[in-house]
Amino acid sequence: MQEIKKYVEENKQRFLDELFELLRFPSISADPNSKEDVLKASEFVAEKLKAAGADKVEVCPTAGNPIVYGEKIVDDTKPTVLVYGHYDVQPADPLDLWKTSPFEPTIRDGKIFARGACDDKGQFYMHIKAFELMLKTGSLPCNLKFMIEGEEEVGSVNLGAFVKENKDRLKADVVLISDTSMISLETPSLETGLRGLSYLEVEVTGPNRDLHSGVYGGAVANPATILCKLIASLHDENNHITIPGFYDDVQSLSETEREMLNQAPYDEEEYKKDLGVDELWGEQGYTTIERTGIRPTLEVNGIWGGYTGEGAKTVLPSKASAKISMRLVPDQQSDKITALFKKHFESITPEYVKVKVTAHHGGEPVVTPTDSVAFKAAEKALEESFGKKPIPTRGGGSIPIVALFEEVLGIKTVLMGFGLDSDNLHSPNEKYDIANFYKGIETIPLFHKYFAELSK
Ligand code: BES
Ligand code: MN
Ligand code: MN
Repeated sequence: MQEIKKYVEENKQRFLDELFELLRFPSISADPNSKEDVLKASEFVAEKLKAAGADKVEVCPTAGNPIVYGEKIVDDTKPTVLVYGHYDVQPADPLDLWKTSPFEPTIRDGKIFARGACDDKGQFYMHIKAFELMLKTGSLPCNLKFMIEGEEEVGSVNLGAFVKENKDRLKADVVLISDTSMISLETPSLETGLRGLSYLEVEVTGPNRDLHSGVYGGAVANPATILCKLIASLHDENNHITIPGFYDDVQSLSETEREMLNQAPYDEEEYKKDLGVDELWGEQGYTTIERTGIRPTLEVNGIWGGYTGEGAKTVLPSKASAKISMRLVPDQQSDKITALFKKHFESITPEYVKVKVTAHHGGEPVVTPTDSVAFKAAEKALEESFGKKPIPTRGGGSIPIVALFEEVLGIKTVLMGFGLDSDNLHSPNEKYDIANFYKGIETIPLFHKYFAELSK
């Protein structure tokens, strides 16, 4: 541990400078205008992997954004860890809400502010630096493979094919990912599951053109009003989702499992204060921890229609739309839930409008094992570097590829995230604590050490 700390101490500034360089690429996978920066970011990652000492480094083209691969095989008889991360980021808008420019990383209060600071550039880069550290200090105890992709934020649409075509190359004993949250630096934790996702778009059409709201209003159904009614009906008075069959495959946890989960520190007053809300909302009968971890949800991500510009325009819009996502839990299946939603939404649409439901990307929920050698190694690593045993939690977010690693490669994942839920992922002013960045670089070599030791 002393040697690890020493190396980090001596290279602190360079580690940060390199991360800043990476953060300056606006590698927004959702934005076709960012193609150039996406490529530059992938080349930067490849270059840094090479510089750290990886072999067979390759920027692998796909039908979309490239996947960066690299490896270090020290000994065929030793276990192999596959590190996964993503160099693409979410769009930065609304830009005017950023205190400093999203692609010019800035330190305030010991935190790095930039799009991707936490999700996921700041987190996967720790693995490249930890790898460098282990090689330079002669302490790499196992084989290491890296796969850093550029389309996670748009559903990893081309990664599945890559994984299927590269089964041999990606062979490993465990997948290690830092792209999730921990409770805090004082309270380390490990996520033991991720929710799945169904994402759809609905479009409600009324009259064949926008109408004068005074001349026609009152005589023709307003698609915006109808859309709001339809959406509102998707939750009942207890905030349960009303789609028939929606809960059929939901695994319920035992009382003991629920009690365990609720032991994680959680201060409701703090939570409300941080978010600026007076009251919380959610499915009756469940705590906030359960609502965001083990229960499925339905959210409107965006809604539009009619006049949304400045001032007032009197208009009865022809169309209104919304983007709707559902977070899924085991054993719900994305395709099945998408189909149930579509069928239900179409069936409740009244005859005075038409509706079109289009599916976007999805992903399956996962639960990761807590009795595996790899999970124990992660627990030991966190305990040693934080001085406290980590608490197992269930994550609310999704990383669709995790289910695929299991299905295609037969490899389980350890989610060793160092972000915080309050790091403003996908929001303005995304941040990552510099302390978490360095702590991660110190903890990762311990994971490899214990994983190699416990695998013997
Ligand atoms: N890193 C997040 C997922 C995450 C965040 C998991 C925090 C647990 C805690 C990832 O980059 C992400 O944002 N995934 C998307 C899904 C994807 C299909 C767009 C998500 O969860 O919305
Ligand atoms: Mn991420
Ligand atoms: Mn994300």
